[in-house]
Amino acid sequence: MNRILVINGGMPKGGRTKILTSFIVRKYDFQYVDISESNLPLLTGEEEQWKLPSVINFKEKVRLSSGIILISPEYHGGMTGALKNTLDFLTSEELEYKPVALVATAGGGKGGINCLNNMRTVMRGFYANVIPKQIVLDPECFNYDDATLWDESAQLVDDMVQELQMFIKITSEVAAKM
Ligand SMILES: Cc1cc2nc3c(=O)[nH]c(=O)nc-3n(C[C@H](O)[C@H](O)[C@H](O)COP(=O)(O)O)c2cc1C
Repeated sequence: MNRILVINGGMPKGGRTKILTSFIVRKYDFQYVDISESNLPLLTGEEEQWKLPSVINFKEKVRLSSGIILISPEYHGGMTGALKNTLDFLTSEELEYKPVALVATAGGGKGGINCLNNMRTVMRGFYANVIPKQIVLDPECFNYDDATLWDESAQLVDDMVQELQMFIKITSEVAAKM
């Protein structure tokens, strides 16, 4: 069963991050979480927050996934604040050793790499297994007429998905032997 979960860390519903998430979900039949629709509160640390259905559902989706594709626009040299708030509801219980692939959408002019590095550092904090391949998609990578990616970028996504699937397979084979 396909249990890769795409987490869309972008906010505006019609943005490039949404186009990319929908493209990947359609093409590979993956599950997804759109943080703008997941109704998570701002994390305050109050006990009641952990009992909210939105929080429980989100954590359960991540826990049950075999791998994650984490997508965020670069906002001022990092992932979006909304995505970081969302991730702060997780713990290593959901993410330890889980293969994670990273994609940043960016405004161009060599943006995006700081967002990738930021996501990689944060995922390290959960002991997740972030795979080597990572992608930055600038505005010109998108075919806006049919809400897809141009072939060269679609190929990068394909290569990254293949690598993610390889790490998922390795992880499950190793886990079965332990
Ligand atoms: C608040 C804000 C900060 C941004 N900061 C950066 C940045 O630091 N580097 C960059 O390359 N693009 C930056 N951008 C551009 C976005 O990353 C880019 O437009 C991206 O496609 C936005 O995602 P969206 O289309 O899903 O809304 C910023 C955009 C916004 C709204």
